Amino acid sequence: MLHNLGGGKRPIGLLLSVLLASSLLISSPATALTGQTAPAAPSAAGVLQPLYLNNGFGRDAETQRVFSWETTTDYSNATVDIVAGGMPFKPENIRTFTGTTAKVPLAAGVTARNEQHVTVTGLEPGQSYDYRLGDTTTSAGSVSRYYSATYHFTTEPSAAEPFTFIHFADSQGDTSSYTKYWGNTVSKALTKLPDAAFIIDTGDMTDPHAPAQIDATAIAHWDAFFNAVGAGFSGPAFLPVLGNHEGSAASPVSFYQSVFPVGSQEGCPVSGYPLNYAYTYGNALFLELNSNYTSGADLTKQIAWIRSVAAGVGAGKVIIAAFHKGPYGELHSGDADVAAIKNSLVPVLEEVGVSLVLQGHDHQYYRSFPIKGGKPNTSVAGNLICTATDGAVFMCTGTSGQKTHAMYKKAWISKYWDPTTQGGNATQDTYSAITVDGDRISVNVYNTGDQLVDSYTILASANKNGARAGDIPGEVVIGPRPSIAARNPA
Ligand SMILES: [Fe+2]
Ligand SMILES: [Fe+2]
Repeated sequence: MLHNLGGGKRPIGLLLSVLLASSLLISSPATALTGQTAPAAPSAAGVLQPLYLNNGFGRDAETQRVFSWETTTDYSNATVDIVAGGMPFKPENIRTFTGTTAKVPLAAGVTARNEQHVTVTGLEPGQSYDYRLGDTTTSAGSVSRYYSATYHFTTEPSAAEPFTFIHFADSQGDTSSYTKYWGNTVSKALTKLPDAAFIIDTGDMTDPHAPAQIDATAIAHWDAFFNAVGAGFSGPAFLPVLGNHEGSAASPVSFYQSVFPVGSQEGCPVSGYPLNYAYTYGNALFLELNSNYTSGADLTKQIAWIRSVAAGVGAGKVIIAAFHKGPYGELHSGDADVAAIKNSLVPVLEEVGVSLVLQGHDHQYYRSFPIKGGKPNTSVAGNLICTATDGAVFMCTGTSGQKTHAMYKKAWISKYWDPTTQGGNATQDTYSAITVDGDRISVNVYNTGDQLVDSYTILASANKNGARAGDIPGEVVIGPRPSIAARNPA
């Protein structure tokens, strides 16, 4: 069940007026969008080719889904057709949901495009569905209907069954790098984990640093980011947090919200920086936090929101937090903004019982000793951690893309993968497969060479006597890792 927004991003009145304007002023089918290799323009074959296709949970992962994609401005009547998994798209099987269309907020001079959003409701928990996107063009009074290929998704079961999700971080790089690195990482992860329930991405998805607006350079990166993924985010929900490279200014945040169906937490009092959101899935509560704050007042509001959500729906649940600027990181651990987050948020995360914190920003794989009372519990150096007695683990899943940084091993880091001393492996990007089963969190970190980089288990409420066979993995021995010099942008 989701306890934040679904696809709400713009006032409904504005959406309707834009939709009407788009319908009335529609032009003839356009050419491909600037910088993209998968044009969303209508094709002669009548096949809709969506750009940026991804989806979120809506207000309830058991019964809802929100689909988002982009097209040229030719399209203006977004729909999603749903059928039960494996059923043909015949009228008697189809439920059609209509959506909204708006102009994507882009800098002047960038070819205009439309954002399309459709919320699907009334689904059955734990069921698989096939769906197709629909859209309409109107030219010289002639209306043409286009449909996409067929995609597939599964809703959250009503019972708190074990589930696995994927964690990615920092896919940024040169525009030419996304397919080679980011696309490869996503492909490897989805191949190993075809039934992953969803994906958490802890930010810095693209490289242009906090652009004032999404200009030609920034949109080229986003095009490359999504082109590298293909239809990879059509099934599992994609649930990102904002990185510092995505920016905090109104225009890039508005663009971000046009792309991803995650928005302001309903009732979240953090003005100016939305994108704090929370959801429960199975036996876990997830807190996805915006870490682009510089104001103590904003942090105070965020803290109140964390406490409110945890008190409201966190009782008895495993709690996992995710944000970009990890308070127990390495390269950026001395930054003033990171220190502010550590001082303000870490005590509150401990107070509400967070077991695992997913981080980005550092572009290296590491996890902390369990942190309790603001101190690393260095006596717990193994692969079994008990939250109540040991503390919370802070983990950065490394990089899913081109850029890596040198490793700066801090006193609070328990395990890490050092690119400079463990050099030689050409498959160094990493992702995590995280399984929640009752009160235990099992984390397996892989590189794109299918090597297990790290493996550990967190018991969120039990002590070590609650461990069972298989909870304590053996020490992981990984292959060597290469020099990073050849892969970083100049
Ligand atoms: Fe970052
Ligand atoms: Fe980054």
